[in-house]
Amino acid sequence: MTAKLHEYHDDHISVTWDAARCIHAAECLRWLPAVFDNDQKPWVQPDKADADNVAEIVALCPTGALHFRRKDGGDPESKPDENVIVVMPDGPLYVSADAVMLSPEKDVTLEDTRIALCRCGQSAHKPFCDNSHLRSNFRDPGTLQENKLLTDDPPTETTRLSITANRNGSYRLSGPVTIHFLDGTDITGNRCSLCRCGQSKNKPFCDATHKEVGFVAE
Ligand code: SF4
Ligand code: FES
Repeated sequence: MTAKLHEYHDDHISVTWDAARCIHAAECLRWLPAVFDNDQKPWVQPDKADADNVAEIVALCPTGALHFRRKDGGDPESKPDENVIVVMPDGPLYVSADAVMLSPEKDVTLEDTRIALCRCGQSAHKPFCDNSHLRSNFRDPGTLQENKLLTDDPPTETTRLSITANRNGSYRLSGPVTIHFLDGTDITGNRCSLCRCGQSKNKPFCDATHKEVGFVAE
């Protein structure tokens, strides 16, 4: 996946923005409107706040659209202490993890700590969310039904979470992960398949419905 990045910088920090991965979750606009403001040009102006503050807000971007690089010796971006996937009601999967995305052929397509994964099956920019869940009126309360998150015994050594976007099928997860539901339920394990066609009857897990419905995704 080759990203087209826009870059905004001052003497202290360089901020990059991948428009294709921005779903306007608006954390940046909400928390640091002096720097992130759709009414100014360019819309990101890092010199309008302290670089530590800019870095802190960039790290809140749940989709990974925003990243930063310090030019002044400040702390670089860090990896989260644990791998967590948040199931958003009627929306995407927010990954906060030391994550590597793999093609079905096991090629690395992305390494990132924040990713918004499409789970409605309708995104034009799969595997990333592009807000198509809103246009397609995707509905799922984002609550746990039958738990299909497995734990290998003995657990694997890796601390990394690998996510394979299966062709015409699910996301296959391997590595330690907590799946968090907004009703407060947390489940942990290190192996499962999550639905990305939007049609499983046991969301967020895959139940092979993608085959019945002829889901198509590279
Ligand atoms: S926080 Fe990230 S996804 Fe949300 S508007 Fe800002 S750049 Fe876009
Ligand atoms: S990807 Fe949706 S049921 Fe398998």
